[in-house]
Amino acid sequence: MKQLLLVISILSCNILLSQHSRSSLATTPPMGWMTWNLYGEHINEEIIKGIADAMDSSGMVKAGYQYLIIDDGWQGGRDNKNNIIPDNIKFPSGIKSLADYVHAKGIKLGIYSDAASLTCAGYTASLNFEEQDAKTFAEWGIDYLKYDYCNAPADSATAYQRYTKMSGALTGSGRDIVFGVCEWGGRKPWTWAAAAGGNLWRTTGDIRDKWKTKPNEGGDGIMDIVAVNGNLSAHAGPGHWNDPDMLVIGLYGAKGPSSDLGGIGCSDTEYQSQMSLWSIMAAPLIATNDLTRMNDVTKKIFLNSEVIGINQDREGKQAQRINSSAEWEIFLKPLQNGDAAIAILNKSDKPLDTMISIKDLKLTGNYIIRDVWQHSVVGAKNSWKGKVMSHETKLFRLIRK
Ligand code: GLA
Repeated sequence: MKQLLLVISILSCNILLSQHSRSSLATTPPMGWMTWNLYGEHINEEIIKGIADAMDSSGMVKAGYQYLIIDDGWQGGRDNKNNIIPDNIKFPSGIKSLADYVHAKGIKLGIYSDAASLTCAGYTASLNFEEQDAKTFAEWGIDYLKYDYCNAPADSATAYQRYTKMSGALTGSGRDIVFGVCEWGGRKPWTWAAAAGGNLWRTTGDIRDKWKTKPNEGGDGIMDIVAVNGNLSAHAGPGHWNDPDMLVIGLYGAKGPSSDLGGIGCSDTEYQSQMSLWSIMAAPLIATNDLTRMNDVTKKIFLNSEVIGINQDREGKQAQRINSSAEWEIFLKPLQNGDAAIAILNKSDKPLDTMISIKDLKLTGNYIIRDVWQHSVVGAKNSWKGKVMSHETKLFRLIRK
């Protein structure tokens, strides 16, 4: 009897420990770059190495973009021991050697699989091989797994069970591997994915490189995704984040998975708005553009440390939407030490004047209002008045005096 009790207490201790170690990952929203929206399944080790070099030389790594994530299309089936293997034409040196290459640059490597037998693009996936695949990923030196849900049953109970199985396998692998749940929001993953061991979960369908979808066009643009993700602030926190999909910044309509369904590209003002909105929503900041050829505007959008600071704030709070009308979208995010951030988006087609006052935001005390895109103080008397251009987002840090 005593022995049985001992076994039970060791087991429950292990479960608690594994849950603890899972939520101690991604204590701030993950930042990085992912292959999908530009390259689709046309990836190989030369492309990945080139991106790793560019992440390093462009200053992205230094700014905090830590994860380089290989999405669908890397798989080459299973060997005669059922170990998952990479496509040997795309990845002739193997994934471990690629992991060594990116790790040497201070970058972490992510990979992709799916909770069924085949992935969304029809490649080998992990159902019934969870432990074996997690072990393989750990041996390769993988630091992040995006786990998709194509070809899997629609009900939530099965999704919960399959994601729990894989998160347990990742924990059991002994390596710290961030777990990204990707079932596109249909089963309300914000209500169960953290309990299933997820560190982040997609809240919507795939983002397209456009501002807003047109009637009968299909595909979500930046605004369509904000409409959903903006309401979910109660569910985000350190170790468990809402994921509104990748940043389309700098794609400019480049041919690839995000260019279909009207994804013809956005203006720089709109791309900068995506950065502001994703930052204030404490969303993962995952770029997907060609980092080897970024123009100066794109670099400026990605590398603004004050904007990144709002996203990565240790409080880990997602902004609340405090106003939504036909013209405006306003978000407020509490930050460490009594500071806050506010995003003011003009959704209309013309420039509009507006004002904010600290009193109306229900904040107490005195604040300095700093425009983090202009890097300058724009209000010191608890209020700001000014113009917001069409589709522009003003992003201010309210610094408690
Ligand atoms: C799904 C995901 C995308 C991408 C593709 C890969 O559509 O939502 O982000 O991973 O699968 O096939």
